[in-house]
Amino acid sequence: MPDLYKVSSADLRRAAELLRAGRLVAFPTETVYGLGANALDEAAVQRIFVAKGRPLTSPLIVHVASEAMLEPVVAEWPENARRLARKFWPGPLTLVLPKQPTVPDVATAGLATVGVRMPAHPVALALIHECGLPLAAPSANRFTQLSPTTADHVRQSLGDRVDMILDGGPCTVGIESTVLSLATTPPTLLRPGGIPRAKIEDVIGPVQLLAKPSDGPHASPGLQAKHYSPRTPLFLSRNGEVPEGRGAYLQVRRNPQSRDVEIVLMPDDPSGYASALYRTLHELDERHFDWIAIEQPPSTPEWEAVLDRLRRAAHVNNSKG
Ligand code: TXA
Ligand code: MG
Repeated sequence: MPDLYKVSSADLRRAAELLRAGRLVAFPTETVYGLGANALDEAAVQRIFVAKGRPLTSPLIVHVASEAMLEPVVAEWPENARRLARKFWPGPLTLVLPKQPTVPDVATAGLATVGVRMPAHPVALALIHECGLPLAAPSANRFTQLSPTTADHVRQSLGDRVDMILDGGPCTVGIESTVLSLATTPPTLLRPGGIPRAKIEDVIGPVQLLAKPSDGPHASPGLQAKHYSPRTPLFLSRNGEVPEGRGAYLQVRRNPQSRDVEIVLMPDDPSGYASALYRTLHELDERHFDWIAIEQPPSTPEWEAVLDRLRRAAHVNNSKG
């Protein structure tokens, strides 16, 4: 029996009942907490958008617990998908493919494609098995806020807008899945995330990058320039320069700073950093600093996903690239 943290089998049964009845259940994944609903139930999917205050132009990811569950979801399952799923599922990789008509248009923001992934968290997998439904689930936070990596974060952001929250402990990966479109040739990296691009290219060859994100009305949420933000103004800093006032500075090395600055030492490896990032920002946000500054990590491929989230979270981006 895998460790389900604070989730009992009675909890799972109740959550599954709620989902079958078209209600919303927040559940842990290895990346961030998801706000789940039956992906094949249009009214249930609508509720997700209302609870989050999310524009209908933002497509959702559909979560499955087996490849067999993809049948009513994706219209094609090409060799590249098979190979990537074999290598990285369950895990933080979302594959975008042509959708089945059974998936309501609202789930995909009217797109002809759908994003699918199999999460690597025992509670998520147990929940999907228990209800027997593919679950549409965005991150379980209000639109544009920081993604939740604990059940408490979900409670603070969504409160009673969600019918039930399953507490599976803190998320280990800590940032969202990599989103890869297999509906283009070559495949397109739509969002860097838990699985580094280089590992994907080892399996299927070169992938192309999306052009620079914009704030246009059709941009997907994770592709919008401002997203994943704490309330406290956040700055990226190249040379340890920080604003006036009282603030916190996230860095991987200890540098001398003025006494109004609280130094927060972060892990110096990309996955350790990612795992700590949202939790750290949530905690600092509670302390009402004038600002949070973050030492810009190196612009190397291993830091691609972290850098992407920092750039989107930054209110003022002091970096050049
Ligand atoms: O790790 C994750 O992916 C988490 C957990 C809960 O699984 N989910 C998540 O969902 O981050 P959300 O809704 O916050 O972000 C979904 C991302 C967005 O960037 C969206 O644009 C992209 O996936 N996406 C989903 N379906 C798509 C599609 N059909 N075409 C292009 N992008 C799509
Ligand atoms: Mg999100």
